Amino acid sequence: MAKFILDNIEYDVPDGKCLAETCEKAGVPFSCNSGVCGTCQINIVEGHDNLGELNQEEKDLAMDRNHRLGCQCIISGGVVKASF
Ligand code: FES
Repeated sequence: MAKFILDNIEYDVPDGKCLAETCEKAGVPFSCNSGVCGTCQINIVEGHDNLGELNQEEKDLAMDRNHRLGCQCIISGGVVKASF
């Protein structure tokens, strides 16, 4: 089980799961849910290496290891701290 800490609130997320559901529950604004609009951007503060590689949708929106799409990125394990 991974820990995802978003704006200082801690969530348990199964290893290998996309963060979409947790981000949405936490109040991150969502629109397209498919990596096109960029609305769900989150800022990664710690634990960058515990997220999967940037996918094509994130690359297309010029995301980087500090800026990820909540609807696309996958937590692999460990702890990730982020804000939005
Ligand atoms: S909700 Fe549109 S990119 Fe994530």
